[in-house]
Amino acid sequence: MPKFYLSTPIYYVNAAPHIGHAYTTIAADTIKRVRRMLGDDAYLTTGSDEHGQKVERSARAAGLEPKQFTDRISAAFREEWDELGLEYDFFRRTSDPRHALAVRKIFERCLANGAIYKDSYTGKYHLGDEAFVTEDEARRADPELITTVTEENYFFRLSDYQQRLIELYESQPDFVQPEARRNEVLAFARAGLKDLSISRSSLRWGIPLPNDPDHVFYVWFDALTTYMSSIGYGEEDAKQTDYERLWPIDVHLVGKEIVRFHAVYWPAFLMAAGLPLPKQVWAHGWLIFQGGKMSKTKGNIVRALPIKEVVGTDGLRYYLLREIVFGQDGNFSHEALAVRYNADLANGIGNLASRTTSMLSRYCDGRIPSQGSGQSGGLPELAAKCIPEAIQHYEKFAFSRALEAAWTLLARTDKYIVEHRPWVLAKSGEPGARAQLESTLYNSAEALRIACVLLAPVIPDGAQKVWQLLGQEGKVAAQRLDSLRWGGLGANTVVGKQAAVYPRLDVGKAVERMEALEAEALAQQARLLGKEPSREPLEVDTPEIEIGDFAKVDIRVGLVLSAERVENSKKLVQLQVDLGEHKPRSILAGIAESYRPEDLLGRRVAVVANLKPRKMMGRVSQGMIVAASLEGGDPHLAGFPDGTPIGARLG
Ligand code: MSP
Repeated sequence: MPKFYLSTPIYYVNAAPHIGHAYTTIAADTIKRVRRMLGDDAYLTTGSDEHGQKVERSARAAGLEPKQFTDRISAAFREEWDELGLEYDFFRRTSDPRHALAVRKIFERCLANGAIYKDSYTGKYHLGDEAFVTEDEARRADPELITTVTEENYFFRLSDYQQRLIELYESQPDFVQPEARRNEVLAFARAGLKDLSISRSSLRWGIPLPNDPDHVFYVWFDALTTYMSSIGYGEEDAKQTDYERLWPIDVHLVGKEIVRFHAVYWPAFLMAAGLPLPKQVWAHGWLIFQGGKMSKTKGNIVRALPIKEVVGTDGLRYYLLREIVFGQDGNFSHEALAVRYNADLANGIGNLASRTTSMLSRYCDGRIPSQGSGQSGGLPELAAKCIPEAIQHYEKFAFSRALEAAWTLLARTDKYIVEHRPWVLAKSGEPGARAQLESTLYNSAEALRIACVLLAPVIPDGAQKVWQLLGQEGKVAAQRLDSLRWGGLGANTVVGKQAAVYPRLDVGKAVERMEALEAEALAQQARLLGKEPSREPLEVDTPEIEIGDFAKVDIRVGLVLSAERVENSKKLVQLQVDLGEHKPRSILAGIAESYRPEDLLGRRVAVVANLKPRKMMGRVSQGMIVAASLEGGDPHLAGFPDGTPIGARLG
């Protein structure tokens, strides 16, 4: 049996999984299912990328040690994949000691082959990407994420591999796909490759170098090795492990932003280590939401599980693989998802399955009739065309086109039923009516069976239900796509009881529910990541004062009677505050960026009543409102509950 080994990137565990991560993993799971249904012994590896500064920082922000933090998030990823029914075979955490064995071994091989040297390096470092970036990239990035770093590093002689890499891309045009990504990688390599820093001495949360434990591996040298460590490379009994059987990998499936790491750095590391190269790097596009690539920092995140609750995993898988051309960017929208679900799953295959089985129950005693000699509406010929088409598209990861091929058959079947009207044939006494009725039902059920097998990699749950409705035994996933032929449905098979495979949705309500569940998931994630970001402990280091000094400050409870923004000032609000005196005071407060005037009305606030009047923006302030803030942070007004007497003095 040919083997097929496939990977997803290993995901950073600085945040909980979102639908972007699910997208890659769903696509990989689909590819694996296709390969299995084509007779391959197919395996999928995934995992979590746990080292580096970004994760370390997120852990600290959650008030946890990196290991505790990554335990939690890595488990959240695994739970997510399990909940979504994604069938990975290997899950490697980079914090697993077995992973370190592989990283060290590859490093030592590179070192022995002269591909590694030590040097000092100063450069612009992108904290988000955990990588040194070019001056140009640094200029384009968020300035908050760019810092200058000088340190002793171990370097990999990437420049030595330029020629061999170019030869690789030229001699194996499939090495990087799709074509646009291949061109990009080729252009990058042709422009000249600089040596690559592969260690950090400034970082603790990582794998120490075997020859210099003050350094830890730079995340990419560490992370890429997961594809080998997960199958046992580096372990003593590697011969017994899956490594011998599965390496080299057939496909690295990645998002397009990390194609360079996989198609340039990774093969170069392997060349230097004298190890076999991957066969292909395949880069898909981004899911775009609210105008940008989903990212934690932008906050435009959608999660997969709330969607699963409403449309099932099939609904999510189908939408992602049908609506977006694999390889290109695509917009995500809850509404489009619900509309697609209704049109193609509920009203499409689901409806066809329930119609067909209910007619079989009514007119054929719940059994599949024989094919008979009635008109077949060209369905057998169409199926013979759609089967290889779908397979070819699947093999090229053109999921939307593979699905279109299956839907061509389903749509034609719907039409065929309408043309022959079994419900009329059943009542007709005309000669030949019964024969046509049986042929119509046989052909419809058979077309449905074929579509069901073709669709099983993308909508496994529904396909299995339809399979059972058609009275088929075992798992539809155990069928072979490449031996799928018209006529496989046996006469006399007892069909299953009619049931809604994909219940129809009210689109508006479905969207509302997905959004509500999304809000809940967000709250849950906040708990996962630690609610309150921890900070450096504060130092209260103002000089001590005597009680008499404090007594000099007269702070009183005031009631805000009116509030308006001061023209031409971003910060100032003018308040009329009742302190219980014969007349309210006019007080200016720099709180306009945090409070709307209407939110201030009727509040009881703390007022420094004996402050010398001050002039601001041409107006006089007769006192000061007390607010709390951390340096540079938003002001929070001190307040008092209703019923606190106006004019009461604090002390
Ligand atoms: N840890 C690195 C990869 C190391 S592989 C040796 C990393 N992790 S990540 O968590 O940022 O995940 C990256 C992958 O998640 C992308 O390459 C892509 O496969 C998937 N996606 C994350 N966000 C996505 C979208 N908005 N859209 C599509 N895929 C997305 O990079």
